Amino acid sequence: MHLYIGIMSGTSLDGLDICLVSISSHIRLLGSRFLEFPPALRQELLSLCSPADNELARLSTAEQHWARLAATGVVELLKQQQLQPSAIRAIGSHGQTIRHHPELGFSVQIGAPALLAELTGIDVISQFRQRDLAAGGQGAPLVPAFHHWLFAGDGLASAILNIGGFSNVSFLLPQQPVYGFDCGPGNVLLDAWAGRHLGVPYDDAGNWGRSGQINAPLLEQLLQQPYFSQTGPKSTGRELFNLKWLDQQLASHAAITAADVQATLSELTAISISQSILRENVLLDRLAVCGGGAHNLYLLERLAALLPAMQVTTTDQLGVPADWMEAMAFAWLAHCFVEKIAANRPEVTGARGLRVLGALYPA
Ligand SMILES: Nc1ncnc2c1ncn2[C@@H]1O[C@H](COP(=O)(O)OP(=O)(O)O)[C@@H](O)[C@H]1O
Ligand SMILES: [Mg+2]
Repeated sequence: MHLYIGIMSGTSLDGLDICLVSISSHIRLLGSRFLEFPPALRQELLSLCSPADNELARLSTAEQHWARLAATGVVELLKQQQLQPSAIRAIGSHGQTIRHHPELGFSVQIGAPALLAELTGIDVISQFRQRDLAAGGQGAPLVPAFHHWLFAGDGLASAILNIGGFSNVSFLLPQQPVYGFDCGPGNVLLDAWAGRHLGVPYDDAGNWGRSGQINAPLLEQLLQQPYFSQTGPKSTGRELFNLKWLDQQLASHAAITAADVQATLSELTAISISQSILRENVLLDRLAVCGGGAHNLYLLERLAALLPAMQVTTTDQLGVPADWMEAMAFAWLAHCFVEKIAANRPEVTGARGLRVLGALYPA
């Protein structure tokens, strides 16, 4: 049994999920911390997601802020658990994605892992996507192998759906390799629209979306985006789905109220997910949701309505807290690196083969 720390900093840019786990033949969540990004850091990370001036100096500065915040969280977590840094075998740090272009062979996650190792005194494993990209893969999603490791033994046909800024699904079918892909936007457009019109970071429980009417012509137009009809391997990010894209789509729909747009965006997330699942034509017993989107009750209701043949739950019901799944996955990916276990899945990313993922920044 070894202790690991996982740090996840997703595309929602809500903040850092930091967890402490023990890993042996199974994983146990021992502690966790969520650190919200200070508004200035969030704004800078968001701005680094699109082309601008002086990116190299700006990203190098932003990632030091990111690492200092992450180190604060790690130190707090260790204190809370009364542990010394030497008790932790490694930190698995996803880093903050600021550009994702697998079609050009690159994906950029920043997070100054050397500084994080310096500040915490713990080995840091980071840059998990790079080796899969080098092997011709998308570099994403990387969580399906973890979902498979967690749940494949129970004999049920399941899909595990992570709804973060973007949504990704893993299919766990008995006696088959895991596969999966990014379905499309998860919370990213919902958050951006709620931010613009209500001045809040997210649409709490999906209540604002629920209050509006789904606009069928707008929904149909949004679903025309070719990403939705592509089959996997595929992965996406803010490059494709962002407020600018939404504004372009809305230009020909002037009369829609803001609440109706939110209802339509909620339906876009739900339909893009349900269509991705139905298109695979596999019989599933259940769909288990994780990520912050599991708190959007309206979204979960719409998913259940669109997927009547399967039971829709959250991963909490399967014993893994929906809020900590991704951070736990990166702790597990660090464990895979240390143990030299290949953790990409060619069926998922399209890579030429299995590869050990990550790079070590020693304490
Ligand atoms: N109470 C809630 N109601 C609706 N949505 C929520 C709630 N809490 C969190 N979320 C959503 O979850 C997102 C964060 O999810 P997370 O899994 O951390 O995504 P990421 O991995 O992209 O950072 C928030 O931006 C928000 O959209
Ligand atoms: Mg997050």
